[in-house]
Amino acid sequence: MLKFFSSSTPPRVQRSPEARAALADRWVERLLAQRLGAESNKRQVGRTTDDLQDGMIDLRLAGPGEPHQAGDLFDRLRWGGSAAVMHTNAQKLLSIAEQYNNTNGFAIEQAPGDLWHAPLGLRIPGITPRAWYFVARKTDLVRPDEDSKRSTYDVTLSPDDNEPEGFCVTKRVPSVEGVLRRINARFPNLDSIAAKQRARKLVGDVFPLFLTRETKCLELLHKRLPEHLRCRVPRPLRIGRDKRGLVTRLDMNWLRNGRSAPLTQAEFAASAMELLAALHDDAKIMHLDLRLDNMVITEDGVGFVDFGTSAQIDEDLTNRPVLNRLFMELMQTSEVQKVLSDMLARGEVTSASLKDVAGKPDRGMDIFYLAVQINHPHFNPELARLITYDAMSDEARTLHSLSAAVLRPKNPAMSQFKNARDLLRGIQRVRRRAAA
Ligand SMILES: Nc1ncnc2c1ncn2[C@@H]1O[C@H](COP(=O)(O)OP(=O)(O)OP(=O)(O)O)[C@@H](O)[C@H]1O
Ligand SMILES: [Mg+2]
Repeated sequence: MLKFFSSSTPPRVQRSPEARAALADRWVERLLAQRLGAESNKRQVGRTTDDLQDGMIDLRLAGPGEPHQAGDLFDRLRWGGSAAVMHTNAQKLLSIAEQYNNTNGFAIEQAPGDLWHAPLGLRIPGITPRAWYFVARKTDLVRPDEDSKRSTYDVTLSPDDNEPEGFCVTKRVPSVEGVLRRINARFPNLDSIAAKQRARKLVGDVFPLFLTRETKCLELLHKRLPEHLRCRVPRPLRIGRDKRGLVTRLDMNWLRNGRSAPLTQAEFAASAMELLAALHDDAKIMHLDLRLDNMVITEDGVGFVDFGTSAQIDEDLTNRPVLNRLFMELMQTSEVQKVLSDMLARGEVTSASLKDVAGKPDRGMDIFYLAVQINHPHFNPELARLITYDAMSDEARTLHSLSAAVLRPKNPAMSQFKNARDLLRGIQRVRRRAAA
């Protein structure tokens, strides 16, 4: 139950719509100035009264009397964004705050508190105007009543006082019920016993196995990557294991999307390729699922998350037949492999070295997919505001030619781009040209 330290209810005053809007504006200004200044400078800020249904806002403000329902605000905020709600009535504000208190996909970030409007700093209780507010963080990727298409695991933000944003990312093995619902939706003709068995197997064995591998991989990355790049992959904070020692919950630091100035397309490509080259050359790890969904952009540059299907270069799985079979199944069904086989079928990929890696865990998969992704940097709406991109620009065209040279080299048997570092050099040439 949320509570205030003290409260008094002001008398109810009838106001015109214009006066109500002006009052809301004044209190919102106050809240920004007194409590949220630093946050609002760096981030995308919007009001709940904005017409635009923009889901990529970092901070949504609801002044007194303005729309404030958690259910409505959920889709109008980025994951990790905040809703700041105000009211001139303390009790009403408390009851609104209950909608955000570890429910509806939110958690309270700043407990209910008060603001004063005392221009000379002189507060006279009962006379100086006062309003109440709280701030809540959107912690869930999808609405609690929706089955996630965004992630296979349960991924949420959890409060963590030791982390700079006050939250960390928690990745958990999902529940049997949730997985069963998704299996039924995807395979409506599967009989119910087989569906249940599959859900139990995934939750009991397969997901913990891969979360354990992901944890190990992140630990290796934090040992092997050059120090300045470690901030671009998640760091494990706490690990929850089952009786067998398999990981069922992983808390890691939150690489929060957002920067004060967007990256140019060539900077985005170079930053991602720099990290990939270090992943391969220094950490000896292949990501194998480099979709834009698994990339973030922070002040430090491009980061990679979701190492759930990663593997160590030269890792031999043949002495672990169960894992080997599961891993190969994953490789065959992954989006990256599907795109590669479609592009091979359409003749859009002719490079012999890329043909060779189809269906196999190989560094070439990462290079192939990144070479494709850098030409569509806005496909992931989470990243769109963080990268400047104009498909008709010289920069975009040159990067496109560079990708074409990777996918369809003049001599298919002899690509000039043998590894991520070769491609990084090519991108840096584009960057220098764009800068000149
Ligand atoms: N440490 C992190 N920092 C920032 N964002 C993260 C972090 N971990 C996960 N995310 C976000 O959460 C989303 C889901 O996480 P993740 O990809 O690890 O889950 P998954 O279940 O393995 O996904 P998939 O179904 O794609 O395999 C990511 O796409 C990313 O947007
Ligand atoms: Mg993912």
